[in-house]
Amino acid sequence: TMMDLRGASAFLVLWLTAFLLPPQRAQDPAMVHYIYQRFQVLEQGLEKCTQATRAYIQEFREFSENISVMLGRCLTHTREYKNAVDNLQKRVERAQREVDYLEYLRGSDVCVESEDKILAEKLIQEAEEEKQIRTLLNASCDNMLMGIKSLKIVKKTVDTDGSWMKDGAGNSPKVYFLIGSRNNTVWEFANMRTFVEGSTKPVPRKLILTLSWQGTGQVIYNGFLFFHNQGTANEIIKYNLQKRAVEDRMWLPGGAGRSLAYQHSPSIYIDLAVDEHGLWAIHSGPGIQGHLVLTKIEPDSLGVEHSWDTPCRSQDAEASFLLCGVLYVVYSYSGHGPHHITCVYDPLRAVTEEHLPNLFFPRRQRSHSMIHYNPRDKQLYAWNDGNQIIYKLQTKRKLHVQ
Ligand SMILES: *[C@@H]1O[C@H](CO)[C@@H](O)[C@H](O)[C@H]1NC(C)=O
Ligand SMILES: *[C@@H]1O[C@H](CO)[C@@H](O)[C@H](O)[C@H]1NC(C)=O
Ligand SMILES: *[C@@H]1O[C@H](CO)[C@@H](O)[C@H](O)[C@H]1NC(C)=O
Repeated sequence: TMMDLRGASAFLVLWLTAFLLPPQRAQDPAMVHYIYQRFQVLEQGLEKCTQATRAYIQEFREFSENISVMLGRCLTHTREYKNAVDNLQKRVERAQREVDYLEYLRGSDVCVESEDKILAEKLIQEAEEEKQIRTLLNASCDNMLMGIKSLKIVKKTVDTDGSWMKDGAGNSPKVYFLIGSRNNTVWEFANMRTFVEGSTKPVPRKLILTLSWQGTGQVIYNGFLFFHNQGTANEIIKYNLQKRAVEDRMWLPGGAGRSLAYQHSPSIYIDLAVDEHGLWAIHSGPGIQGHLVLTKIEPDSLGVEHSWDTPCRSQDAEASFLLCGVLYVVYSYSGHGPHHITCVYDPLRAVTEEHLPNLFFPRRQRSHSMIHYNPRDKQLYAWNDGNQIIYKLQTKRKLHVQ
């Protein structure tokens, strides 16, 4: 139909051009007005239609303007042109019928209805997703970060990079010590006291893994060590510390592992985190100076539960952690202090930029190797220039925010 119409239009133009060309002596404003009005109505109807039609409408509008210009010079009262103008009117009417038919096919009602339908479907889909996320992140926790209450250096070592932690779930008092950003030796201390005092009774257990880790983003969750497998782009290992064997493995999607997660942490491609909601992974999205991608992982099946593109940049970042389902990213322009949180991301959008804690970490010579939140004791475990640090936190209820 569109092709027919185009043919008709082109023919009309040729035809008009052919017989209207001799200098005109009068006008027929009523007819010009009629045609113009009619075309405008058609245009308005067509305008409601989809993109595909839009280019055609543009052409049609230009064409109708051309016609009105030509008809503006048209003679109607002279007998010799009477037939021709009648003929013209018939042809224009035929063109209009074509357009009417076109309009019927892609009728404005149909178009509007289908757009409404698409919109409605999209809204339903979004609502479903929102519901899923709410269910996913439904835990009895609604704290948000306010600031740092205190800092405690619990141990000093010579190793600039590493990570240390307690299990993020359960009630084990054990402290794990992972020196270096590429290694396979895990030290297990009976409790915090033996770790702090460096006492040799009881002697820390030395666990040699069958695989090595990459970076300092490891976490321990429910007795399993989760780490980025060295030599792979995006493989996460779930390691059974009891059995001393690989329990399971997964490949983190979304372009994970192609670039550093944080500009100032030269060994972390995939950072892991634990909070009240469970296990998370953080990596840099595609592009130079990518934005961080947050992924929620089901720790039993190692399935991806959901993934979010956050507005938080990798550039100038040095670490991040999750607390109560909200990602807090620590930045330090130039790599050494001041270290402060300048980006938060809440998948449920309850906590936004305006609730950013005025949170500065004490100035240090180097950026943090890791900063991980532990939902059991609700404090941060950090490693900075060989020092193992605990940051105690100030939080408040999210509900009190608004
Ligand atoms: C309208 O007229 C202009 C100038 O004469 C011409 O370039 C253009 O192709 C015409 N458009 C249509 C749709 O006929
Ligand atoms: C969250 O969980 C509680 C109990 O676990 C339940 O009562 C509540 O309806 C849940 N809310 C949502 C939004 O799923
Ligand atoms: C791995 O760590 C152990 C101590 O935890 C250390 O003795 C060893 O040299 C490290 N290996 C490498 C390759 O850095």
